[in-house]
Amino acid sequence: MKTLFTSVYAWVDERLGLEEIQAFARKKRVPLHAQSFWYYWGGISLFFFIMQAVTGVLLMVYYRPGPDAYESVRQITYDMNFGWLIRSTHSWSANLMLGAVFIHMFSVYFMKAYRQPREFGWWSGLALLILATVFGFSGYLLPMDDLAYFATKVGLEVPASAPVIGPLIAKLVRGGTEVGAHTVQRFYTLHVVILPALFIPILMFHLWLVQKHGNAVPPAEENKPVAQRRSIPFFPNFVIKDVAVWLIALNVLAVLAAIFPWDLGPQADALRPAPKGIHPEWYFMSQFQVLKVMGDWMRGTLGEVVGVLLFTGGMVAWFLVPLYDPNKSSGRKARQATYFGLAVLAVLIITTIWGYAAL
Ligand code: HEM
Repeated sequence: MKTLFTSVYAWVDERLGLEEIQAFARKKRVPLHAQSFWYYWGGISLFFFIMQAVTGVLLMVYYRPGPDAYESVRQITYDMNFGWLIRSTHSWSANLMLGAVFIHMFSVYFMKAYRQPREFGWWSGLALLILATVFGFSGYLLPMDDLAYFATKVGLEVPASAPVIGPLIAKLVRGGTEVGAHTVQRFYTLHVVILPALFIPILMFHLWLVQKHGNAVPPAEENKPVAQRRSIPFFPNFVIKDVAVWLIALNVLAVLAAIFPWDLGPQADALRPAPKGIHPEWYFMSQFQVLKVMGDWMRGTLGEVVGVLLFTGGMVAWFLVPLYDPNKSSGRKARQATYFGLAVLAVLIITTIWGYAAL
């Protein structure tokens, strides 16, 4: 058996250069220090993304976009063997992925892994975060139950409030003046074709950059003499630990999806009044709450416009941090960047809790 494996390996190696790939993976080392725990979160985000792709393809087999969308999700949930589990796994994994991405983003931020030469890691990561939230927003409508319908209706009021082009964008996305079968068709195309086509190449670029530059170490570690720094080979040592963490993630996902199956509400009906406490998914709650508060403070659409501008300004500043705090210094700019990160984190948490409390 061993000889068969060895000869097959040698045959493939001769043609594809497997040894070179192994040598490439072995060359990379992962630093070992008090903060190494945070290195797992990019990998956890990746694991949930893979789960999304696998369960998403399975859902595509039976999902029917358009006027029949709700009925097809009802069949998946109640009539197909294990359909409920696949659907529940897809929805839970989407939320866990976004949770992991947020943890990953703030951990690389406070480790200052956005600094030179990793700026493109930061920017490509932000692009992935934005795409991940659009994945969530477009997926949320697809079952066309009443919660999905009204939350999307409310959600689309945000781009619609942007000056000049806002209403046009909202109409284009909706495929008309109202959310309906056309909107589902458009969101589906976005969800299964356009977003993956954008997300996957950016993800490849993101991962290639980590391979190229290696993992950043936090400033405290960077100040140590090189001889005192410890590290382990990426392959196989770190990969084995990564696999163990992925198994834990799989367990968490399986338990949540099986014990708390994802709900399907009554079919959307535009003529019925919106159910009470309509709100977007938790990762949009912060923006939702800011818009609501601004809308209450200022008359007409002015509040919403100010809210959108506030958030856009915050995002631009977040994007530009690597240029403001670019190198190893631990001076004033480095401290300000850390305070800015803490402020952003605090605002997101406080406005999210506030949003849920005010429902
Ligand atoms: C689905 C989304 C994402 C996936 C799958 C992903 C995946 C990964 C992986 C596997 C790593 C290497 C391991 C690690 O350091 O954790 C990594 C590193 C990194 N990621 Fe992400 N990431 C995502 C989103 C983001 C976001 C939103 C940001 C920040 C805006 C970001 C910024 C970075 C940076 C700067 C590094 C380098 C860290 C270092 O050198 O130690 N990533 N990412």
